Amino acid sequence: MDYSKYFADRVVPMKGSAIREMFKRMADPEIISLAGGNPASELFPSDELSKIAGKILMTQPTLALQYGTTDGYPAMKDCARARAEKVGAVSEGDEILIMTGANQGIDLFAKSILNKGDKVIVESPSFIGSLNAFRTYECELIGIEVESDGMNIDALEKALAENPDTKMIYTIPTFQNPTGTTMSLAKRERLVELAAKYGVLVLEDNPYGDLRFSGEDVPTLKSLDKNGVVFYAGSFSKILSPGMRLGYLIGPAQLLEKTEMLKQVNDVHTPMLTQLMCVQFMKKYNIDTYIKKNRELYGKKCKAMVETMEETFPAGKVEWVVPDGGIFLWCTCPGIEDITPVVDRCLEKKVAIVPGSNFAIDPFAPSNQFRLNYSSASVEDIKEGVRRLGAVLTELL
Ligand SMILES: Cc1ncc(COP(=O)(O)O)c(C=O)c1O
Repeated sequence: MDYSKYFADRVVPMKGSAIREMFKRMADPEIISLAGGNPASELFPSDELSKIAGKILMTQPTLALQYGTTDGYPAMKDCARARAEKVGAVSEGDEILIMTGANQGIDLFAKSILNKGDKVIVESPSFIGSLNAFRTYECELIGIEVESDGMNIDALEKALAENPDTKMIYTIPTFQNPTGTTMSLAKRERLVELAAKYGVLVLEDNPYGDLRFSGEDVPTLKSLDKNGVVFYAGSFSKILSPGMRLGYLIGPAQLLEKTEMLKQVNDVHTPMLTQLMCVQFMKKYNIDTYIKKNRELYGKKCKAMVETMEETFPAGKVEWVVPDGGIFLWCTCPGIEDITPVVDRCLEKKVAIVPGSNFAIDPFAPSNQFRLNYSSASVEDIKEGVRRLGAVLTELL
């Protein structure tokens, strides 16, 4: 039976993540994946967490296994607050909601404010999870080019002037997914000013902010906002564990009250067991020590990737910006129209990369770009994977 006639209009244009599709083809253990966005599993504090989980289930079974409150377990809200305060992302009058991952926060924030046809400005390219969330609300996505120092702010100003009824700007200003770039302070200041001038809300998505391995921290947009226009999505996925599904949303309470109601409809609350595990982990251990190990490892892995790219990529055919943190590196091949043959040939050579179209506002337009991830493979696999990729690029470009 063909079920497509039953599809709601809003899900018809959705395109599944090419990365998830690729996972299906990657059952072959010989494939080196530079495609996903998984954090380094070798650094998960699994021993510590298994002891903590056991103790919670022994000593607080009712709390861990019973329904919890929608906004989050109070001590978990304090943990999120502590992380956010470090980057000035909490203001007076703000509410904090614990979310089942930042993904849910972004989705339900969008659901709280977007009507069909509303305009949303996003970086182009951007994170597919958020783009797909916005697509399901049938809004109009307006893409703004990402430069080596973040969104092109002149283009943003022009887009706002042409579309003064824009409802929201969604941005990943630090170690952006997929480009790995970080927005400069000057651009952040202008973005916040423009948002206030046009009365547009900003959703700052910052799951990678803690993962800097070179350069200086740049203030969050939320910390620069004096007008209550910036909302902030944070996550424990890249500093503790993505499988625990712990994220948070921070912003003025009046709006987040609606988001909380949507969460109640969506999944009632974030699982109590993982909230309690995170609280105990944060009490017992210094998470910053653990984050430091992540930063060091990612710095080392990024360096291995860039050095091998320099050695093996055909000279003058591929451009990239070396990131100062995060987990992604973005490449552009100016001489070609479409990267698909390279991606397919790479799979034959047993290395997986993601085509740029996956992150585009129009996912059906050809792209000459691709994203590499350096957090999940080992240093040896990164080097071997990039060597295979370099050979394919040399053959096809
Ligand atoms: C930019 C961005 N935002 C949000 C998320 C989702 O994070 P979480 O695991 O907290 O849902 C990701 C995950 O890859 C991401 O890259």
